[in-house]
Amino acid sequence: MNIKEYLEQKRIAVDRFLDEVTPPAVTPPTTLHESMRYSLMAGGKRVRPILTIAAAEALGQTPPGLIAVACSLELIHTYSLIHDDLPSMDNDDFRRGKPTNHKVYGEAMAILAGDALLTMAFDLISRPDLMKGLDPVRQVRIIQELAFGSGNVGMVGGQVFDIQAENKDIDLPTLQNIHKHKTGMLIRAAVRMGAIASGANDRQLDEMTGYAEDIGLAFQIADDVLNVTGTREELGKNPNTDAERGKKTYPTFYGTEGASKLADDCVARAIGRLDSFGPSADALRGIARYITSRKN
Ligand code: IPE
Ligand code: IPE
Ligand code: MG
Ligand code: MG
Repeated sequence: MNIKEYLEQKRIAVDRFLDEVTPPAVTPPTTLHESMRYSLMAGGKRVRPILTIAAAEALGQTPPGLIAVACSLELIHTYSLIHDDLPSMDNDDFRRGKPTNHKVYGEAMAILAGDALLTMAFDLISRPDLMKGLDPVRQVRIIQELAFGSGNVGMVGGQVFDIQAENKDIDLPTLQNIHKHKTGMLIRAAVRMGAIASGANDRQLDEMTGYAEDIGLAFQIADDVLNVTGTREELGKNPNTDAERGKKTYPTFYGTEGASKLADDCVARAIGRLDSFGPSADALRGIARYITSRKN
């Protein structure tokens, strides 16, 4: 499998679907829709929805509604980025190659665009027209996974741990816990939602969950490394912001090379968890490798 081509093909499908389901900027409230679309259609990598699709495919199926299930994660993720960049949080000026949402639309509209994207995610995976044919028991489990991964004991909880650790001399387990929640939990939900949609049994779901937790940590370690080594042009966001904000990250503990090596170890462990799956899981294996080799 050529993973670059796979990622490109799925990214295009995700972009197309998101464009179709998000109201055009001329629909009232027009500024809200413009602001939502500004961040949503700005060219994210779409890693989380692609993971959902790849997890479903690993079980040999393309269940009904899969693209809507996948895209619900991108709506949550984009909302989390808009709020993460706010002056009261990371106070960042640049995201996905453009000025951050609040720089263009103001803080109030950025908060509301985030709120609307979050809510829209749950609308999407509940819509009878989009989800027709998916087993309703699976659908409710998927909705719960999305809520659990996004909320107080998931991504939002992780953002709280993250801001509370600013300018503190935190230890490694504390940092690991931040990463596990702020980034790991949504990635975990993405993989599990795809697996559940495809009817994974308990053993398969456990193996996929282990895979997801390992790549989730690798993903945030790679983000920390890129924050030190990347350029604004490559990243589409400003580098060096962690150090400026007094955030201890993996490179603070291990240096960039040591941190990269640890991320590679996580990836190897993740791939090892997929041993019982055949070639149908090759996309998941390829995505795991891509996570540490990416330049943005
Ligand atoms: C950035 O996420 C924020 C983290 C959780 C590390 P991505 O690296 O997936 O950003 P986009 O979606 O491609 O812009
Ligand atoms: C973002 O983490 C995690 C989210 C839940 C949005 P960071 O704050 O480290 O990510 P970047 O570097 O701004 O993308
Ligand atoms: Mg942050
Ligand atoms: Mg940030």
